[in-house]
Amino acid sequence: MRDLVRIDDLNREEMERIFRLAEDMEVLRMMGSDLCKGRILATIFYEPSTRTRLSFESAMLRLGGEVLGFADPQATSFVKEETLADTIHMVCNYADLIVIRHRWAGAAALAAHHSSVPIVNAGDDSHQHPTQTLTDLYTLRKRGRRIEELTVGIVGDLRYGRAAHSLAYGLAAYGARMIFIAPEGLEMPEEVCWRLQAEYRARFETVREPKEALPELDVIYMNRLQKERLPQDLDVSEVRRILAAYRLDPEMMKHARPDCLVMHPLPRVEEIARELDADPRAIYFEQSANGVPVRMALMAILLNRVDQPPLRGKVRTVRHLEEHVCQNPVCVTQQEPNNVPPQIEEPVDGRPMCAYCSQWVTV
Ligand code: CP
Repeated sequence: MRDLVRIDDLNREEMERIFRLAEDMEVLRMMGSDLCKGRILATIFYEPSTRTRLSFESAMLRLGGEVLGFADPQATSFVKEETLADTIHMVCNYADLIVIRHRWAGAAALAAHHSSVPIVNAGDDSHQHPTQTLTDLYTLRKRGRRIEELTVGIVGDLRYGRAAHSLAYGLAAYGARMIFIAPEGLEMPEEVCWRLQAEYRARFETVREPKEALPELDVIYMNRLQKERLPQDLDVSEVRRILAAYRLDPEMMKHARPDCLVMHPLPRVEEIARELDADPRAIYFEQSANGVPVRMALMAILLNRVDQPPLRGKVRTVRHLEEHVCQNPVCVTQQEPNNVPPQIEEPVDGRPMCAYCSQWVTV
């Protein structure tokens, strides 16, 4: 596998391989390294980021490589209506690996289609955020938790939260049990639930009331409301009012086990009270720090800088069509239809899905 577009491209053995290498990278992170000397990372971010972009850049610098890129598309030829496809054709001449974040679902898949260098998805709309999941799972492993034995509560806006989607697949690959805790309208998308069931035989359930699930949980994984992705007709203040019942604070934590870890991909807004930061169970800042060794390991593998077999990637049944059929307005097939081949994923015994944004389509 040359690119990392979706976490479900990786199997458990491959994730373990990244985590073992990340353990070695903890040392190089402190001592410095020239493992990627002469290699250039491009970070092209069409959406805001603090952790993902800076940790990727830090990771490459600590490996002895160089970084270039942009954090504000308004300062690029994007404003002159240059297509994403053309941008990728340019950037792969300037760098050896490209990390992309974009507000279109499937943007990383489009980039991979046009790039001559590896592409890593740093978040594509509400679709996926695979390196966040690698960081999350690595954190649990580093904390000595056996992921396959855990019951993880994934809480909050699960509909639009890309970190939540990727995390569910990552946990499912290990066989962990999941409890999705979300209000009506913000539940885990049906497509994700279907894939969890069909492809992983995953153990999961959905509950509305956080207090109902808290005593069972080994991990509480909080998610912020993705207000930038909510439909225009939704009343954000009303959604916030509903989500207030899901807020984690010291009072709510009285229902949790003494060893229950609290995680969050960050940024945190209102969903975790500041007072919880001092609770030893709150590990979200440590989780964020782990993004550096994990991304060091991933880039070293994708750039063939370590003596390891390449990641294999998942073979999916894909059907090519005459024209695009995805109706998702933020899918790349709607935004740059001429720059990606029309194709759908056809899971065995499943409804066809867009090969780019993973939403169900009608053919
Ligand atoms: N977790 C995460 O993706 O954070 P940023 O948006 O700051 O990169």
